[in-house]
Order: sequence, then structure tokens, then C-alpha cells
Amino acid sequence: MRHTTVGIIGAGPAGLLLARLLQRCGIDCVVLESRDRAYAENRQRAGILEQGTIDVLRACGAGERMDREGLVHDGIELRFNRRAHRVNFPALASGRRVMVYAQTEVVKDLIRLQLDGGAPLFFEAKVTSVTGADTEHPTIHYTHQGRTHTLTCDYVVGCDGFHGVTRDAVPSAVRSTYERTYPYSWLGILADAPPSCDELIYAHSPRGFALHSMRSIQVSRLYLQVPNGTDAAEWSDERIWDELDARFAIDGDWKLQRGPITAKSVLPMRSHVTEPMRYGRVFLAGDAAHIVPPTGAKGLNLAVADVVVLARAFAHWHETGSGELLDAYSDTCLRRVWRAEHFSYFMTTTLHTDPQHNPFETRLQLAQLERIASSPTAAAELAENYTGFPLEGPPSLIDRV
Ligand code: APR
Ligand code: PHB
Repeated sequence: MRHTTVGIIGAGPAGLLLARLLQRCGIDCVVLESRDRAYAENRQRAGILEQGTIDVLRACGAGERMDREGLVHDGIELRFNRRAHRVNFPALASGRRVMVYAQTEVVKDLIRLQLDGGAPLFFEAKVTSVTGADTEHPTIHYTHQGRTHTLTCDYVVGCDGFHGVTRDAVPSAVRSTYERTYPYSWLGILADAPPSCDELIYAHSPRGFALHSMRSIQVSRLYLQVPNGTDAAEWSDERIWDELDARFAIDGDWKLQRGPITAKSVLPMRSHVTEPMRYGRVFLAGDAAHIVPPTGAKGLNLAVADVVVLARAFAHWHETGSGELLDAYSDTCLRRVWRAEHFSYFMTTTLHTDPQHNPFETRLQLAQLERIASSPTAAAELAENYTGFPLEGPPSLIDRV
């Protein structure tokens, strides 16, 4: 039986960043990840980093490649009624910007740092359960290389995503879940085509939502709203490009660059929050506690915000013996989580075509988009939410890391 101070379950962005932050504060930890390294590094996820996320990655020494290869964006474009409107972030949100740098690249950078002298990180270590959440030493049970093991901890952090097992350590009598599903999904593609725009385009159209994003100056990432249950194989490359063309169409000059499609997949859309995010000595962070639909690009950034709050609380406990900030963890995080849930819901329901909608509701969507396009006050609300609010209390932590 092994022992560690903080047992971390899951090597997604939440678990990896937490391990990095704890190590910089002198707190030992172990990370257990059920998948192998190649799988963890190649999962396609979103790609927008808020200013606070950029700052934390830089401060903990994980920003070098991000600063070289990431693309700084100062706004987004909204398209509706065949017209394009730009939302200027720095002008509307106190100089804040975002960076396009894929989550999969963030994960690669953090794994490399972790294996290069960081805390132990075990791949193909599948956690089966967490017991003793309300005791002094919660225990992680896992299998690795065909054998079962236990890891006793002072604290356990479940960074094991939506399908993880840590949530089950919180008794159902004290756990509340809040959920919403949506009557549509996204078909996402990667294409070897230079982006057709300098900034992301979010398009409302009578045919459904479309999003133009990018991964680099040679690779485009695009999404189409599709019905739930869609099989990506039903969509030929030509059909995808034709549909994208139709949904991005505006009056005036604009051309969508086509190129070979290298990946195609369907993503479900869901909102979910589990409360509280802490029970006894077990904490939940990132997707393990909350899911947002991808329209606001908040998932990764929320995971980062959670672990910054948690690392700061652990550092305070380690230095002073006080559990005060650990006690406040759930309430502190949930304030940001619910703000982001609202924003993601707002972006999703304002931009997508709901099959249940009648023309009245479509008119309401267009009225809201028109308001954002014509009022700096309304646009500032979008810009502030999109670029992200300052992280709670990171300056002291960042100074230290
Ligand atoms: N044992 C060990 N590891 C597990 C287990 C388990 N039983 N269950 C899940 N995991 C691992 C998964 O394989 C994955 O690597 O936990 C990790 C969770 O990582 P993510 O799903 O990336 O979640 P998180 O780190 O919270 O990052 C949030 O990821 O899903 C996106 O939109 C989301 O961008 C957001 C970000
Ligand atoms: C992406 O680049 O994958 C992306 C960007 C913005 C979003 C969602 C996904 O809102």
C-alpha cells in the first residue's frame, strides 16, 4: 500500500495542471490515468484559452510552446441575417484577449513536464473506486498492469471527467445534480485548409448553427449543428463543405477555403453541474463536476479555474495547517461555474436552431443578436464572459509557482 498527500485521478488538463501547481508549492501527489499516453495526448477537444488560463500556464512553466505556436485573437465574428459583425474583445473587456491553442497541445505540454521530473504519473491505471471520503485517509482503489492496488491519501481530487468514478464517493443523500440536454449535436471536422478568417466565426442561419475555428495557419477546425444521433459517416466531405458554405453565406465577398478533411466526429451537447464539489476529504474538479456545451469555449478554462482555487487552498493548508480555503473550495468554484453555465447556455440557445422552435422564437434570437451587434453594452457582456473573469486569488499562487 502506498501513501501520498494528494491523490489525483485523471490526467486531463485539470489533473495535470493541479499536479504541476502542487509540486511547485512543495506538496507531493500521484496522478492515476486510465488511458495510455498516446490516447490522452491525441483526444480532440476545444482550443480557446482565456487570459487567466494563459497566465497560469505561463506562470507554471508550461507556456513556452503555447507562446510560440498559439494564435492571439482580439475578437470573434457573429454572422446572422447574411451579415457579419465583429465583437472587439480588448476594447470591450478591459484589454483582455484569448488564444487559440488546442487543448490536446496543452495536455502534451503538461505531460512532458510531469514525466520530466514531476510527481509520479501512471498511465493505464484505472481507478475502480474511492472509499473513506469522510475519514482522515481516503483511499483510491485501482488496477495497473493487471494487478489491483490501493493508494491512501490525505486528500483525493477527482479530475476524472464526466464519466469518472470519483463523483460516486459523494453520497447521493448530499449530492445534487443539475442538468440540461440539447436537441442537437455538433459534427466537428479538422481540415488541411488555411483558415478562411482571422478570427472565429459563430454563425446563426436558418439551416442551423456553424462555427469556424482553427488549429494553426494551415489547419481549420469547423463545426456544424446536426440532429442528435447523427452518424458522422453519413456526411460525405462534399456535403459538409456545401453545408458550411450555405450556413456561413453573407452578402458580400467571402470564400470558404476547402481542403482534405482529416478527422470527423459527432459531439453531444450537455450542461451538467454536481454540487457540492467537495465531500469530506474528496474534491471534484473540471468535467468531473461540471459540463458545458462547447459554444462558449468554457470547458477547459473552467477546469483550470477550479484547480487554481484548489492549489491555492492546499498551499494555504500546507503552510498554516488551516483548512479554511479548502472548506470554501466548492462555494468559490461554483460561483464561476454557474456564470459559465449561464453564458454557455446563452450562446448555445441564441445561436442554434431548435427543432421545437416556432418563428417567434427565431425572431427573439435575431433580436438578441442584433442587440449585441448594435450596443457596446450588450457586446461587452459577451466579451467579458468570453475572455473570462479574473481567476480567484491566483496572484499569490502565481507569484510562488
Ligand atoms: N481512472 C483513472 N482515470 C480516469 C478514470 C478512472 N476511472 N475515468 C476517467 N479518467 C481520466 C480520463 O481518461 C481523462 O484522461 O480522467 C481524465 C479526464 O480528463 P478530461 O475529460 O479532459 O477532463 P478535465 O481534465 O476536467 O478537462 C476539462 O476537457 O472534456 C474537456 O470540455 C472539457 O475542455 C474541458 C476539459
Ligand atoms: C474549437 O476550436 O474547437 C472551438 C472553438 C470555440 C468554441 C468551441 C470549439 O466555442
